[in-house]
Amino acid sequence: MNITHIEHIGIAVESLDAAIPFYENVFGLKCYAVEEVADQKVRTAFFRVGGTKIELLEPTGPESPVGRFIAKKGPGVHHIAFAAGNVGEALTEAEEKGVTLIDKSPRKGAEGLNIGFLHPKATFGVLTEICGEE
Ligand code: CO
Repeated sequence: MNITHIEHIGIAVESLDAAIPFYENVFGLKCYAVEEVADQKVRTAFFRVGGTKIELLEPTGPESPVGRFIAKKGPGVHHIAFAAGNVGEALTEAEEKGVTLIDKSPRKGAEGLNIGFLHPKATFGVLTEICGEE
């Protein structure tokens, strides 16, 4: 697997309307995109932080993965995303190495990237996303 950097850190929030001004006013970061990803039932907001990003995730309903995460654990760090050129190859390689996958093949995430998740039970409790252009 050819991981080049941490593409983003995903943070679950109850309200983008509350969290975006916090990131802008307290940290001086600029929200450059808000995008709904219907497939994952979330609205996302992105901030560049050097070579990586913060991805805020607001559930669009309680019966969504992020909605259930917040109900169970409260808002907070939700996932870490590694950039790898070819997501399909990375997922296949992880599976060959015995890692349980949430996504067996890539799907479309925010910003038009291909994404796939590894199961947190197989990654020491950290929900791990692989994302990339291919
Ligand atoms: Co993500």
